[in-house]
Amino acid sequence: MAGYGTAHLRSEADTLLRVENLVVEFPAGRRGLKVNAVTDVSLDVRPGETLGLVGESGCGKSTTGKAIMQLPPPTSGRVMFDGTDLASVSGEELRRTRTQIQMIFQDPISSLNPRRRIEDIIAEGLNIWGVGDKSSRQQKVDEMLLTVGLDPKVARGRRPHQFSGGQCQRISIARAVITEPKLIICDEPVSALDVSVQAQILNLLEDMKARYGLTLVFIAHDLAVVKNISDRVTVMYLGRICEVGDPNVLTASRLIPTPPPCSAPSPSPIRRFARRTARSSAARSPPPCHLRAAAGSAPGAREPRNGARTRCLRCATWATASSWPVTFPSRRPTPPRPSMSSGSPTDGGPVP
Ligand SMILES: Nc1ncnc2c1ncn2[C@@H]1O[C@H](COP(=O)(O)OP(=O)(O)O)[C@@H](O)[C@H]1O
Ligand SMILES: [Mg+2]
Repeated sequence: MAGYGTAHLRSEADTLLRVENLVVEFPAGRRGLKVNAVTDVSLDVRPGETLGLVGESGCGKSTTGKAIMQLPPPTSGRVMFDGTDLASVSGEELRRTRTQIQMIFQDPISSLNPRRRIEDIIAEGLNIWGVGDKSSRQQKVDEMLLTVGLDPKVARGRRPHQFSGGQCQRISIARAVITEPKLIICDEPVSALDVSVQAQILNLLEDMKARYGLTLVFIAHDLAVVKNISDRVTVMYLGRICEVGDPNVLTASRLIPTPPPCSAPSPSPIRRFARRTARSSAARSPPPCHLRAAAGSAPGAREPRNGARTRCLRCATWATASSWPVTFPSRRPTPPRPSMSSGSPTDGGPVP
């Protein structure tokens, strides 16, 4: 699809991670159809920064995170991490570079191997790469368990099902941090947790970031959570980026429509048919243009402030505070009406 550009990216020298024009397609069905999970996504993260990636469910956030890790490699696009183009390396070199990037997943319990003990789960990265001897690895695991707020004596020999969701997420954080990565991609790390535990895990992530000098990509569907932790936020919608900027000045989240929930318990065949037809025509129509709505009469529309950028999903126009209000050229010039006469009544021609 047409490129949406990289105008919002900062200088490459200042960034730890720079993703340009990332496209991820998945095969769908036997007729060669494809799901465009991510279309032309570009983003960057500076060292020590937390980039929030927010958007509704299914908009391609996790796919973007995994494509950065090359799991699986993207269909096209460039992923520059600490001066290395991850798309151009493979095998041993890719695996070694990837130790610098870790991931924390949404479901804390199922992301941990149920058959292994916690000490083995946390030490796995160190064991694979043969870091230090057995006793130093053991010591590191104990230190890490203490740092994430678990008692090493109790936790070491247990298995994941013996912990709560919040405790399992602490173990996932310990496992991610123990290999001393530069970047951690947190894929909805608090979505499956209670609100009270969410705050504890967010605080723990902040502490770990400060303590180990980490850089975070924080994925979530809840803008309030992302605003809490991020220095810069990228909003995704239908596989594309539609807004980038300071978390306090975002506008897109209020303007992107959310489909109403389905309330009918058992739809009749006619209603089901009508709903299916409406759904397929909604899928065919291009995404709504929140920027046009904002420039027009949408209630509460705000201009992008403090260096934030916002973008029209349909025509790829970017807007900043200096270019606001945006004026759009009319999409299709109206053709002149065919004249029925050789002249108008005012210039003395014949009246039709
Ligand atoms: N392995 C896959 N095969 C086919 N389609 C996939 C696959 N993974 C994700 N998708 C599709 O890609 C889209 C984006 O998914 P995902 O990145 O998981 O969304 P999010 O994390 O924003 O909720 C969805 O429509 C999903 O169905
Ligand atoms: Mg996801």
